[in-house]
Amino acid sequence: MSAFNEERVLSVHHWTDRLFSFKTTRDAALRFSNGHFTMIGLKINGKPLLRAYSIASANYEEELEFLSIKVENGPLTSHLQHIKVGDTIVVGRKPTGTLLIDYTLPGKRLYLFGTGTGLAPFMSTIRDPETYEKYEQVILVHGVREVAELAYHDYITQELPKHEFLGEMVSKQLLYYPTVTREPFRNQGRITDLIKSNKLTDDLGLPPISPLEDRAMMCGSPALLADLKEILEKRDFEEGNTTVPGDFVVERAFVEK
Ligand code: A2P
Repeated sequence: MSAFNEERVLSVHHWTDRLFSFKTTRDAALRFSNGHFTMIGLKINGKPLLRAYSIASANYEEELEFLSIKVENGPLTSHLQHIKVGDTIVVGRKPTGTLLIDYTLPGKRLYLFGTGTGLAPFMSTIRDPETYEKYEQVILVHGVREVAELAYHDYITQELPKHEFLGEMVSKQLLYYPTVTREPFRNQGRITDLIKSNKLTDDLGLPPISPLEDRAMMCGSPALLADLKEILEKRDFEEGNTTVPGDFVVERAFVEK
């Protein structure tokens, strides 16, 4: 059996000239946990070219959804950014990853820190009812350069609270904190600075982030992950992984050079 399924593109949404998302069909046999990533890509000259992408859709949904950057000369994304409804993409059959609520310890609150396309795995996490059963409050923090890069902003603020099954949990338990670094916006600044100064938690009316009550997941560039990990470790958070759950877990967001 092949390690990959071929799926059909069902819709494409271009957020900016650097960012787009798309939905595809899902093989009925594909199993994954919310927060997982899998290899996806295109056959180029008959050869599959694949990269790791977080699955943004929840594991009970019929379709798969992915969020991607566009890089002009990127080996994959220079092609992928031109996909259209009806095109075929290749999807790996073995999703995996660390950003699972199974790998964060029980606690009162779960912080989800994502920059850029690092939001993708958390779109799955915030659509998982188990997230709201395990944690009283779920705080989604998305950091981007420009306002237009706040993908899913309207979906999170307008649609999700009205969702047939999740709406009530989302309305009561999900806090969303979008922040922008290179343009004016209601929240401004890097996630790291907002945590260090406690501005993030002050704005949300929450106590400073602490391992006594809080757990965290992070997904972004290597620099963001290194800086954020240092801040949390200074506050005595311990990192978890797929074998030993911890106070926080980390995954690198896919960035094509
Ligand atoms: P900044 O605009 O100050 O670089 P990118 O698109 O480069 O992945 O960045 C997404 C967001 O993550 C931007 O708001 C960027 O802020 C921020 N960012 C990048 N590196 C870090 C870091 N080391 N710590 C905190 N935030 C970061």
